[in-house]
Amino acid sequence: MRNYSKSVRAAFIAGGLSLLLLSGSLITTNAHSSLPVALVHVTQADSAVPYTAMGHTEKKEYMRDVLTPRFGQMFMAFDAKRFPQMKCVTCHGNGARTSEFKMPDEKLPKLPKSDAGMKKLEVKIPAMVKFMRDSVAPLTAQMLGMKEYKCEGCHMLK
Ligand code: HEC
Ligand code: HEC
Repeated sequence: MRNYSKSVRAAFIAGGLSLLLLSGSLITTNAHSSLPVALVHVTQADSAVPYTAMGHTEKKEYMRDVLTPRFGQMFMAFDAKRFPQMKCVTCHGNGARTSEFKMPDEKLPKLPKSDAGMKKLEVKIPAMVKFMRDSVAPLTAQMLGMKEYKCEGCHMLK
């Protein structure tokens, strides 16, 4: 097994520091909870092994040590009541129980297939959709070292 964990942790700490320094300009206000939602830039480039090149065990460690705490902060800042703590199961649903961690997972809320359905959802829960679009999807792409991460990467469609 490659020993990437230390450098990943160091990169995470460095990311946290730059967040502190830059927080003034990186924080956006979220209408839903009126708590600031920080858009952090912890990039895959900071880690020794890119996510896509990691083996299953390394992916698990990266998810546990870097990705989950980062998303935990972000979800809590968005809605601390609904997301008091982020765990594997928050994103992985069934996959966390079977230890397979395949995404998308059917336990996550399913999103409408049609544009019309998506529009309706945007009217019904605008803050949530905006949070997903502007914060969750971009951070996922960054943390996995991908150009873009689609909603369907996590959510099944119905
Ligand atoms: C914020 C959401 C989120 C959380 C929290 C999360 N993961 Fe993940 N995880 C993902 C996504 C998205 C993928 C799929 C990445 C891809 O498309 O390749 C993934 C992929 C994985 C994979 C690789 C699966 C495969 O098929 O290769 C493993 C292993 C994994 N996660 C383990 C964990 C563990 C263990 C935890 C808890 C410590 C965790 N994850 C927490 C979002 C999350
Ligand atoms: C990294 C995984 C991930 C990605 C990518 C992602 N989501 Fe989510 N989404 C979640 C999680 C986790 C929840 C919270 C589920 C819960 O309440 O337990 C959620 C919740 C939601 C909800 C709330 C559903 C409800 O019934 O309250 C909506 C709507 C949503 N996401 C839309 C989107 C959209 C639109 C995109 C793409 C722009 C997207 N999501 C991308 C993980 C993700």
